[in-house]
Amino acid sequence: SIEDCEIIEVPKIKDPRGTIAVVEKDVIPFETKRVYYLYDVPSDASRGGHAHKKLYQFLIALSGSFDVILQDGKEQKKITLNKPNKGLLIKPGIWRELENFSSGSVCLVLASEVYKEEDYIRNFEEFKLFKTR
Ligand code: TYD
Repeated sequence: SIEDCEIIEVPKIKDPRGTIAVVEKDVIPFETKRVYYLYDVPSDASRGGHAHKKLYQFLIALSGSFDVILQDGKEQKKITLNKPNKGLLIKPGIWRELENFSSGSVCLVLASEVYKEEDYIRNFEEFKLFKTR
């Protein structure tokens, strides 16, 4: 459920020269097979609008901010990501929408699998059926 989608703090190493945040083994509960990032997103754009059958993702606002709306078929919650050392874990079977991107924002995504269109559920009615089976 969406309760299992949590904000995870990324350990950081800070000194007067700046900060390093490290997503290493044991920070997130999956091994990363793919890294991608969203940028140049218009403030009125909506991204996502789908769920995944098996994919785990970890989203970080490397710069700027954006909102993530999560739905598990029963409940909905909105999470604002706006810190480079706090990420959102999204488990499989969760419908997500990303919106309200600030100008210059960058969304880093660590994913547990390579890109597979077959893993997507892009139709909300199909998502609800997937959740109730
Ligand atoms: P999609 O995952 O629907 O975007 P978002 O959830 O960020 O709104 O992907 C948009 C398009 O890009 C879609 O045609 C699939 C393609 N794509 C890839 O080819 N490889 C990838 O790793 C990703 C994330 C998307």
